[in-house]
Amino acid sequence: MNPVTGVRRHSETVSSRLDGDVLVVVLDNPPVNAVSHSMREGLLAALTTAGRDDVVAIVVTGAGTAFVGGADIREFDAPITTPTLPEVTAALESSAKPVIAAIDGVALGGGLELALACHRRIATARSSFALPEVKLGIVPGAGGTQRLPRLVGLAAALDLVPTGRTVGADEALRLGLVDELVDTDVVAAAVAVATRSRGLSPRRTGALAVPKLRAEETADLVAAATAKAKGRPAPLSAVLLVRSAADLPLATGLAEERATFLALRASPEAAALRHVFFAERAAARVAGLEGVAARPVATIGVVGLGLMGSGIATAAAIAGYSVVGVEQSAEAASAGEMRIADLIARAARSGRTGGADAATVAARVVTGDDLAALAGADLVIEAVIDDHDAKAALFGRLDGIVRPDAILATNTSYLDPDRLAEAVSNPERVIGLHFFSPAHVMRLVEVVRRAGTAPEILATAIAVARRLGKLPVVTGVCEGFIGNRIFSAYRREAEYLLEDGASPQTIDAAMEAHGFAMGPFAVFDLAGLEIAWARRKRTPRDPAVRHVDVADRLCEAGRFGAKVGRGWWDHVDGRRVASPEVAALIAASRAAKGIVPRPVTADEIVARLTGAMVAEGRALLAEGIAARASDIDLVMINGYGFPAYRGGPMWAAEQGARG
Ligand code: 3HC
Repeated sequence: MNPVTGVRRHSETVSSRLDGDVLVVVLDNPPVNAVSHSMREGLLAALTTAGRDDVVAIVVTGAGTAFVGGADIREFDAPITTPTLPEVTAALESSAKPVIAAIDGVALGGGLELALACHRRIATARSSFALPEVKLGIVPGAGGTQRLPRLVGLAAALDLVPTGRTVGADEALRLGLVDELVDTDVVAAAVAVATRSRGLSPRRTGALAVPKLRAEETADLVAAATAKAKGRPAPLSAVLLVRSAADLPLATGLAEERATFLALRASPEAAALRHVFFAERAAARVAGLEGVAARPVATIGVVGLGLMGSGIATAAAIAGYSVVGVEQSAEAASAGEMRIADLIARAARSGRTGGADAATVAARVVTGDDLAALAGADLVIEAVIDDHDAKAALFGRLDGIVRPDAILATNTSYLDPDRLAEAVSNPERVIGLHFFSPAHVMRLVEVVRRAGTAPEILATAIAVARRLGKLPVVTGVCEGFIGNRIFSAYRREAEYLLEDGASPQTIDAAMEAHGFAMGPFAVFDLAGLEIAWARRKRTPRDPAVRHVDVADRLCEAGRFGAKVGRGWWDHVDGRRVASPEVAALIAASRAAKGIVPRPVTADEIVARLTGAMVAEGRALLAEGIAARASDIDLVMINGYGFPAYRGGPMWAAEQGARG
């Protein structure tokens, strides 16, 4: 013990001090106090210290801005070392002296499990709580599935554990997950409670009974949670484990939970989801931005209030920005405003406006038909028609209106932002912000870094995307950037497969069975076929490259996709149906080239389509367009429906190569 401070160090990450006769144990493993081996060891040692006579109760708290952000995920690729987290939670729960968790910040995963094993939980309003293990392909491994239902009941636990949903402090209090919220120093409050609880016998979560429900109620809850699990092993196991807490003695439930946790921890799916977790953090590290601060942004202009622009404006308003939306005419502006108001209302109804009501969010948006309204904007995002001349003309006009330091962002999917930048007098402020539709929902934003974009502009664009709740991935300039360039390669290969003998039905079914949200032809139909058709018509074709012209025939026949009810599929009452007309067009294309169709297996479909993605991904890395393979994985998972549990195309290929 340090004789001056009175602080006793139990391990590198755990220390304690006496506050009166209460032992305050501080967990300190920056940045999020993840539970590492040293923390487990230190906590056990601190509990041993607490056995001394001069300690009447124990307060456990986190240093800095987190309680505990979960078990240390970096340890998950190595064998488990003792003491294990269940040993620590068991020691906390069985402590003869009351243990109080003082929570100020996140209590996640193993962190929440520590708190659940304490005898009381006191928290601040900014705290949040979750068992997010399923997002990492695992289940809680230190009592979460058994203690949570004992505290909050089956309905809440079946809502929280299989989804990993985060609850704020107020909801946690309502659920009984925390006992008390304070707006003062949480440790002082916990010490006061601890002092008062001197001599009281601890209320052990594990000793509580799960509140009884009627059998039908339980069955309904289990059925609903099972349906939401979409067949993934981790959430399915979470449902079963939580359900079993109502019937099994604690020790049996804990043993089953641990066995499931260990099995899932070693699964390829969990390894892939860990890769995604670290990929998201790696994407935030952008070369050349070390020490570069983002500028403050308060007002965002959006030009073009079609589907994309309205989605962007909605996301910006929900994030708290002042939004100025501009359209070509007063009618178009008011139609845009109505669309935005509708999107905001829907977001508010489903609880996605951060607690603000729809009217408050909508009041952040003004719309009109005069670009002059953008004079005060810090950032203007254009979302007008994807045509070079239209966008260049708009940038030229904006150049004379916005502040000289305002950022100009283009939402183009395919155009060259370097050429667009030529239209403005100080092009270093031009950047690409490629949103995905619907922009208020889709998490991915490709941040297109031009060679001439100033680092401060890039840092600001990334910061804005983050505040919008998006996952920004930086890409260099090329046709289609990372995502659409890979998607073009995917489309090409899908069309080759068609000609070789597959059908839109077999191809979509194979990719959906592989975990894609939608197969490629369903996606083409949803996006509409005419934009790619127009691009093909204006792009010269290399005669040496195999070309499939079925898509052109579809467009000539007016089969533009789902919105007209006909594309690669027929769309009847929201259902996809195979189209004889399309089958005939495919057969004609084969016949014209003398191709005899052959059976194409689902395995071949998956191998060739993911192979096409990987080959294009490697080219993007070689050209320096993508900074790292994991960025490509994030783009394909968050923009194109690649199953996260397979880690993205680059990760999956690497695992496949390892065997
Ligand atoms: N283990 C190891 N490192 C972690 C971590 C964890 N549980 N949580 C966060 N980190 C690291 C990140 O990798 C990042 O490192 P970097 O700076 O080197 O890139 C750093 O902490 C900061 O993380 P973020 O950039 O994500 O910071 P934010 O402030 O945006 O978010 C957070 C903080 C909300 C804690 C978020 O990081 C998060 O959600 N973490 C994961 C939580 C989680 O899944 N916990 C469950 C783990 S599994 C478990 O507990 C099993 C148990 O049941 C036995």
